[in-house]
Amino acid sequence: MTGDEIIALSKKHTISEWAAQGAVDPIPVARAEGIYFWTPEGKRYIDFNSQLMCVNIGHGDPRVVRAIQEQAARLCYVTPGGMTTEPRARLGAKLAEIAPGDIDVFFFTNGGAEANENAFKIARAVTGRQKIVARYRSYHGATAAAMAATGEPRTWSQAALPGFVHVLDWYHGVDRETQTTDQALRHLEEVIQLEGPSTIAAIILESVTGTNGILIPPDGYMQGVRALCDRYGILMIADEVMSGFGRTGEWFAIDHWKVVPDIMTMAKGITSAYVPLGAVGIRRTVADHFTDKPFPGGLTYSSHALACAAALATIAVYEEDGLIARAKERGRLMAELLADLQSRHSCVGAVRSIGLFGVVELIRDRQTRTPMAPFNGTSPEMGALGRFFRREGLFTFVRWNYFFTNPPLTISEAELREAFEIIDRGLDITDGAVT
Ligand SMILES: Cc1ncc(COP(=O)(O)O)c(C=O)c1O
Repeated sequence: MTGDEIIALSKKHTISEWAAQGAVDPIPVARAEGIYFWTPEGKRYIDFNSQLMCVNIGHGDPRVVRAIQEQAARLCYVTPGGMTTEPRARLGAKLAEIAPGDIDVFFFTNGGAEANENAFKIARAVTGRQKIVARYRSYHGATAAAMAATGEPRTWSQAALPGFVHVLDWYHGVDRETQTTDQALRHLEEVIQLEGPSTIAAIILESVTGTNGILIPPDGYMQGVRALCDRYGILMIADEVMSGFGRTGEWFAIDHWKVVPDIMTMAKGITSAYVPLGAVGIRRTVADHFTDKPFPGGLTYSSHALACAAALATIAVYEEDGLIARAKERGRLMAELLADLQSRHSCVGAVRSIGLFGVVELIRDRQTRTPMAPFNGTSPEMGALGRFFRREGLFTFVRWNYFFTNPPLTISEAELREAFEIIDRGLDITDGAVT
């Protein structure tokens, strides 16, 4: 099919996520390799967002493709309740090796939202409490409870569920002051006290917030949340769906602060999206609750053999190619390139990155630091920047007043510089709007 035929048929018969369907303008993609993908007509794009921040090992790694083919030929699926398989057994053991602390029991799901749904069920069953505390600037998935935990605008149009409480982040927008660790933790503790500690099952947080702007916790924040959870008997859930599997230069972002959450949710990079898979990692002491009590969840495709085989092969690629250390090293270069953009472009109000997880926030006024597009909105300038990136063959997410720099961890220095050269030219457009 031609690109236009693919678009026309897709738009006629399929729904695109989070968008008014009339405004959807997809890129037709025919193939992908490494950090690049191509349309059927051969236009090449740099994948500077690892698609949905998930193709961490890059596209088309033959080792993972082969593992999927071999597993498909041998055995795709068995019922997850009454049977088990070698890929499932090996994947549980492998994740226990790389997950922090004594997280060594895993429940497999189809993706991140289901992982968070099950994390909440586990926390409620173990504590006997109901409430889940989450932060406003967060995304935890689009199923009912994951959406209720989500604090950003995608949750506004959904039916509110009882039992979810939101707290402020330390970060308040590019035009406002940032709170200190102490202030943020005091706010969190006050909310815990006002809600009643004995009613709160868990606090969920993205270890480094992803879609809502690569928010890297200040030193002491994660340790402080851990201490509050311990003080009040609340379980700590680290959502590592986007920040896990090397993205930040550690296996998991929470490893930067040497904190062990009680429950850790994963997806995306676990298979680099070659096959859908999510997982809930549980500390041994928490998982022991289910030794003599039934586990309160199940999914037809839990522990799917094809997905488990893909995850094992993907984790082997991270290890064989040293991709976690490489993300850290390339991340240093990316931080320099980001700082360079900030020093030369008046529209750049802030840059943040950790490993290969980065963001550029644009402002239109150097004094007031007014964002280039309003919260939850867009502007002609951000639209023009997005169109420029697309025209120039750079794919990344442009959201509100910011855009991401999240390439596959395999990216070479030359490829990273090539992408930043396009970004550099694009920012001349937005510089023009700065007063
Ligand atoms: C931090 C975080 N948690 C959960 C999810 C939901 O994952 P999924 O889309 O696989 O359900 C996402 C998706 O982007 C995410 O970024």
